[in-house]
Amino acid sequence: MRILFIGDIVGSPGREIVRERLADIVAQQKVDLVIANCENAASGFGITPRLVEELLAAGVEVLSGGNHIWDRKEIFEYIAHEPRLLRPANFPDGNPGSGLYLGAAKNGVRYAVLNLQGRVFMTPIDCPFRTADRELERPSGVSVVIVDIHAEASSEKMAMGWYLDGRVTAVIGTHTHVPTADEQILPGGTAFISDVGMTGPHAGIIGMDRDGIIKKFLNGLPARFEVAEGDVQLNAVLIVADTSAANSQPRARSIERLRYRLD
Ligand SMILES: [Fe+2]
Ligand SMILES: [Fe+2]
Repeated sequence: MRILFIGDIVGSPGREIVRERLADIVAQQKVDLVIANCENAASGFGITPRLVEELLAAGVEVLSGGNHIWDRKEIFEYIAHEPRLLRPANFPDGNPGSGLYLGAAKNGVRYAVLNLQGRVFMTPIDCPFRTADRELERPSGVSVVIVDIHAEASSEKMAMGWYLDGRVTAVIGTHTHVPTADEQILPGGTAFISDVGMTGPHAGIIGMDRDGIIKKFLNGLPARFEVAEGDVQLNAVLIVADTSAANSQPRARSIERLRYRLD
């Protein structure tokens, strides 16, 4: 089974390249399941119900989130009723939405997607490791489990990869918007990459306009950031999951980095 995981979609340029290219990529790469991180889809900050529907219509099947998932107030009501839109599972109890989605792919394979968020240089929410243990008890009869670990520190993401090695198909890092070159299959059979990178304009600074970001580093004052323009890329990984033996442990055969440009 071939799974495409698309890195953080940023603003209208990120959505545009998904709309323009995803159907061709799915056909060319024979993709069975498309997952994307969507936390920056709305002008870089959060996502709205309309944009969830736009990305689902473009062919994304599960949308995972991160620290920015709460940025648009209209998502609070919506996320409680749209199970394909995830937020990190380790936010404190009582928040709307879920960090776990259970579904069946086009090829009939049952799968789970789990969204977690790190705590290093981020809001100190509940432990993502213990949350993973708890959430992974719930899926039964699934042969593919994909984890989005949305975190700042490479060490925390690597620790999650090794912690879940042999228990899930893949642990995919998101949030930094900069792809890493450490894609690998861990000894227990779990595919891992520290960060899949970003889908949006790469002429800016992690997707946002350079001038505003540089100014903030110079003067330290609060600022509004605009989405950048130029060098629009779609960064993703293609994971090939081994689904040959029913009810065996989830296992990946390969993980490959993919980069597409709009022009
Ligand atoms: Fe992001
Ligand atoms: Fe993030």
